[in-house]
Amino acid sequence: MPVPAPSAVLNPVRTKEDLLFEDSLRPRSFAEFIGQDNIKSNLKVYIEAAKKRGEHLDHVLLYGPPGLGKTSLAYLLSRELGVGLKPTAGPVIERAGDLSAILSNMQSKEVLFIDEIHRLHPSVEEILYSAMEDFSLDIVIGQGPAARSHKLMLKKFTLVGATTRAGKITAPLRGRFGIIHRLDYYKDADIKKILMRAADLLKVKIDDKGAEQIARRSRGTPRVANRLLRRVRDHVDVKGKGVITGPAADEALDLMEVDALGLDDVDRKILQTIIDNFGGGPVGISTIAAAIDEEKDTIESIYEPFLMRIGFLERTIRGRKLTRKAYDHLGLPHPGHGRAGGSQKKLFRD
Ligand SMILES: Nc1ncnc2c1ncn2[C@@H]1O[C@H](COP(=O)(O)OP(=O)(O)OP(=O)(O)O)[C@@H](O)[C@H]1O
Ligand SMILES: [Mg+2]
Repeated sequence: MPVPAPSAVLNPVRTKEDLLFEDSLRPRSFAEFIGQDNIKSNLKVYIEAAKKRGEHLDHVLLYGPPGLGKTSLAYLLSRELGVGLKPTAGPVIERAGDLSAILSNMQSKEVLFIDEIHRLHPSVEEILYSAMEDFSLDIVIGQGPAARSHKLMLKKFTLVGATTRAGKITAPLRGRFGIIHRLDYYKDADIKKILMRAADLLKVKIDDKGAEQIARRSRGTPRVANRLLRRVRDHVDVKGKGVITGPAADEALDLMEVDALGLDDVDRKILQTIIDNFGGGPVGISTIAAAIDEEKDTIESIYEPFLMRIGFLERTIRGRKLTRKAYDHLGLPHPGHGRAGGSQKKLFRD
């Protein structure tokens, strides 16, 4: 069986294979949506209040790293509201007219889901301002001096926007969302529950310890957890007894070179480059991106948040800096502090 590179299994960006599974694994109710308790309890209140008043729900912006459940939550919202959802995405809407057509077809209280909302073209985004604020569209009829502007009233709908790059959302757009939530990485215990549920749906046999091992290395990301579950299942189906136990999961994950914290080869390249070329930092993100030949945007939206979450990277005014914890994990001496005890047996591939 070919062994996938760690970056292929650990990169939280959605692959074609994920697409095949995601619909079947997507939580169908708040009860099935595990973790993110604070967001859930807030949304439940807002939904109930909107339903009680017979009104549309205020516009919702969901942001956070890929694979944490933004799309799942958007669909859940429409389900719980008992209304339809029209999905689209920032880069798909090419002209203002396309969005006007979508908006004028929205039914009362329906959800318009715009994924990657930070990638809307400015002329398209402008249409959203009045649509979100007073549910109107300004339509220009005719050309030149004879042109007249006409206000078209829309049904009251809910816009749910999702993005991995909240910093790229313009202030006027951001200001028009009444409800804004950031999804954070999941605790291992929650990832374990997500794995148990997915295993049940996929008819995969897994025990408690097996789920724990996979959870630990899933980068706090449900999409990665579900993907690792599928890969580990392949291993145990071929080599094991068809049950994912702790030792079986460990062995499969080791073979896949998924390290104890779920770091992939790009994470390691980032850490190693900061050490080798920049003395541990501080160093600017663009410099790191150029040095490892990765997109700055990819580092900022995928790798940096995770390395910061596990306390390996710090943001300072002068740039990114490695922490002592990162040196310890790599088994390298912290500059100026003698040698630290390494916790990692297999680290860099030669
Ligand atoms: N809280 C959760 N409970 C159970 N499963 C979850 C949860 N969150 C996400 N998932 C699972 O992870 C998969 C990925 O989630 P989703 O597509 O909603 O992420 P996303 O934040 O929209 O990612 P992207 O930024 O790439 O669009 C889903 O198919 C779902 O199975
Ligand atoms: Mg999504």
